[in-house]
Amino acid sequence: MSVRSSLTVVLAAGEGTRMRSAQPKVLHKVAGQSLLAHVLDAAPHGTGAALAVVIGPNHQAVADEARRVRADAVSFVQAERLGTAHAVLAAREAIARGADDLLVAFGDTPLISAETFARLRAPLAEGAALAVLGFRAADPAGYGRLLLENGRLMAIREHADATAEERKVTLCNAGVMALDGRRALEILDRIGNANSKGEYYLVDAVEIVRDMGLEAVVIETSEDEVRGINNKAQLAEAEAVMQARLRKAALDAGVTLVAPETVYLAADTQFGSDVTIEPFVVIGPGVTIDDGAVIQSFSHIVQSEIGKKASVGPFSRMRPGSSLGEGAKIGNFVETKAATLEAGVKVNHLAYVGDAHVGAKSNLGAGTIVCNYDGFFKHKTTIGEGAFVGTNSSLVAPLKIGKGAYIGSGSVITKDVPDDAMAVERGQQSNREGGAARYREMKLQAKAEKKG
Ligand code: UD1
Ligand code: MG
Repeated sequence: MSVRSSLTVVLAAGEGTRMRSAQPKVLHKVAGQSLLAHVLDAAPHGTGAALAVVIGPNHQAVADEARRVRADAVSFVQAERLGTAHAVLAAREAIARGADDLLVAFGDTPLISAETFARLRAPLAEGAALAVLGFRAADPAGYGRLLLENGRLMAIREHADATAEERKVTLCNAGVMALDGRRALEILDRIGNANSKGEYYLVDAVEIVRDMGLEAVVIETSEDEVRGINNKAQLAEAEAVMQARLRKAALDAGVTLVAPETVYLAADTQFGSDVTIEPFVVIGPGVTIDDGAVIQSFSHIVQSEIGKKASVGPFSRMRPGSSLGEGAKIGNFVETKAATLEAGVKVNHLAYVGDAHVGAKSNLGAGTIVCNYDGFFKHKTTIGEGAFVGTNSSLVAPLKIGKGAYIGSGSVITKDVPDDAMAVERGQQSNREGGAARYREMKLQAKAEKKG
């Protein structure tokens, strides 16, 4: 059987108004990824799977996000908000190409899965003209109700237009719909706006399909999967559902989460085998954690790679572009950014390593600061293999420290250090014999005179 082609139209024209945000709604994030990105990731991929995103006027940022996630995404602007069917038709040009299946999804329902899209498409392959995703709503107020007769879907009635009897129905429209792609334009063009809101309702497609003598079916899913996001409270609820899913997937994949409910993961976090994550860890987007690595409590990691058997934390912060080689270790209050720490490197306490490359097995002592920024430009620091940087040293970039070099504690290093050299930059120490005793005596005497 040949694979059916598809066009997914994602409606993403919403403003951030009810989010009390200047940002378009679909750019808000769940598990470190925009709402839109979640939907685009779940939508059909690959050969024969086209993607259209309907955006609001002045929402170039939404179009950019769509392209970032799916290079094949084409954006269409809905100039006026005249309803969901009107929004779909903004992508008329793409729909007119006539894919086998037309899928419509909302950009603000990030919990939808690829499997559900597949389930929704299945009836089309068997001759149905329309399949709608339904769910049993705990509180159906506000949702479109799915009206069935003898088990057959006959219509979807919007809450505002429903009779008291129809409002008792709890089977609701999730908003995701699949239409026969060859008939889609004919169906969509027949949708009018004779309803209480004067909007072109996509849901009216069901009655039109029935009038055409064609089949319309319901595919059910859980309410959690189709939670729509309109405000910050719903955004937080979706985050909780997503985190629960990600934690379960990590546990199923063999990751040890000592207290799963305290660990925040990103949708794209990648784990090797035998990874352990202690309580209270936050992992942002773009993080890979290799076999046997341990992330200790209160660490925060974004866009970083953690090598085999590496150890992070407690209280470490890995910012974008950080990479730890095999067995490398960063400890409490260590911050890294755009820094590669090769195998076996140790930075155990209180350090900042930014825009740097640290060779294998080097040791950076407590309080080592890589001064990468001069107030105007960022500069790079390279430290060779097996180097030792004494505590409380400032390494002023741009700087090269050679292999096996040794930096004396408390140094401010501004010049390159050759391989195997020892660099010390600090004032000479002077010891005065008996000086402390004399000083004490003098002060005690002064104190006694003041009292007397
Ligand atoms: C819609 C459904 C309802 C369903 C509910 C599920 C319709 C008519 N109603 O209602 O049956 O139970 O979702 O959450 O389809 N949009 C545009 N342009 C428009 C109008 C809407 O892009 O002109 C987008 C919105 O940004 C949103 C989506 O379409 O992403 C749904 O619109 P919304 O106004 O939230 O519809 P609901 O009243 O929630
Ligand atoms: Mg809605």
